[in-house]
Amino acid sequence: MTLQEAEKLVKKCSQEHVLALWNKLGKKEREALLEQIATLDAKSLERCKAALKAGVAVPDTSNGKAPKVSVLKGRKLQEAVAAGEKELAEGRVAALLVAGGQGSRLGFDGPKGCYEIGPITNAPLFYFHARKILARTIRYGAAIPFYVMTSEANNEATVRCFEENDYFGLNPDDVFFFTQGMWPGMTAEGKIILDAPGHIFMSPDGHGGLLAALKRSGALADMKKRGIKSVFFFQVDNPLVEIADPAFIGHHVLNKAEYSLKLCAKRDPLEKLGVPMRFGGTYRMVEYTEMTEEQCYRKDKSGKLYFLYGSPAIHVFDRAFLEREASRPMPLHLAFKKIPFVDGKGALVKPSEPNGYKFEKFIFDILPNAKSVTFLAFDQKEEFSPVKNAEGVDSPASCKADMQGKWRRWLSEAGICVDENLPVEIDPVYALDASDLKSNGLCLGAE
Ligand code: UD1
Repeated sequence: MTLQEAEKLVKKCSQEHVLALWNKLGKKEREALLEQIATLDAKSLERCKAALKAGVAVPDTSNGKAPKVSVLKGRKLQEAVAAGEKELAEGRVAALLVAGGQGSRLGFDGPKGCYEIGPITNAPLFYFHARKILARTIRYGAAIPFYVMTSEANNEATVRCFEENDYFGLNPDDVFFFTQGMWPGMTAEGKIILDAPGHIFMSPDGHGGLLAALKRSGALADMKKRGIKSVFFFQVDNPLVEIADPAFIGHHVLNKAEYSLKLCAKRDPLEKLGVPMRFGGTYRMVEYTEMTEEQCYRKDKSGKLYFLYGSPAIHVFDRAFLEREASRPMPLHLAFKKIPFVDGKGALVKPSEPNGYKFEKFIFDILPNAKSVTFLAFDQKEEFSPVKNAEGVDSPASCKADMQGKWRRWLSEAGICVDENLPVEIDPVYALDASDLKSNGLCLGAE
């Protein structure tokens, strides 16, 4: 893009101040700024401004009802597993990981997937995800293509992590990295924020940026070419997730669902999980911040929490549904943050109070558009223990304890008692579940 073209574009978007310090910039900075300006599009900026005008309204959820949640047992469970195994064996299942987030709460600088979580090996989160996919691929004899969404900030380091670890055993042809979009930060007046004289402050467009990125990158087309029908979605921070769980896939397929969600009983009424609610004939995800205290603590007749189930963000999507949704605009969510900015003279200011807005899209905002939805209950301790905070709840320590708790239960089922003080770790390719462990004839303490 030339300077003249950039001037025209920023004028059209009423963002002329972006070029105000042009004369102070060196050649490289000028080139980089022109590149950034080229990514701006007037329509999207107008949407951001409209979102700013509308403000951070908390939606009215007072009419929300708890959804009907299935619990699979006995024959129903067997049927779902059989249907899911068929999908897996016939190569119609893909895994989709959103890993573009910044991990700021954890205080970890790199991609969160590189965070070392293996209790003995210090293997990174990516290791556990990739090895589970490999284990299922081996078990069912068909590839599960793995789509990994990164952001501009962590794409290079993510790809490097996979390369340096030989893709954790996966076939590189079945791993597809793609990068989500970035939105510029804005002041309350809708002015784009510069965090250096020649640099626009940009942040990832939220995990809902997934849809546009899937389309733009060709990942959706790749899924179609491979004959994928069901897409298993998960977040990077949860190493307990049962990726491409046959029961979940089967339940989704047997119900001809477009969007299926795994839900777990909340550990306490204020647990920080999104809660799906029914509003008339459609469903919507209500963030924990949007629930009233009354809703959090409401009980049903039997004395159980009425909004018992929370979402750990484990979903199955019908691929055609994703394709349909990828062509529609998604709602924008605002986050009011402290964003470093340059003043009129080009000096950097680090604000002590929030001063600007970031814009994000959330993938679960497509829930109301799904023609058929299923909710499936699972046991939190078996499948959900995210690494979100540096300490306390949902921290590396609690996650490692939960991972080891699960492996210890498998070992105990296989008739092996492990001293509570001894660390345990099981490679998913060695055993994906307790029955694998039994049939692999585990041999401990032979010498
Ligand atoms: C999220 C959900 C919440 C759910 C909880 C379960 C939101 C707003 N809330 O909360 O409903 O109960 O997880 O753990 O999502 N990501 C990107 N790009 C981005 C932003 C995030 O790829 O621009 C990815 C992250 O890498 C991560 C996932 O999305 O894998 C979740 O992001 P995070 O910000 O940690 O979500 P939570 O607020 O913890």
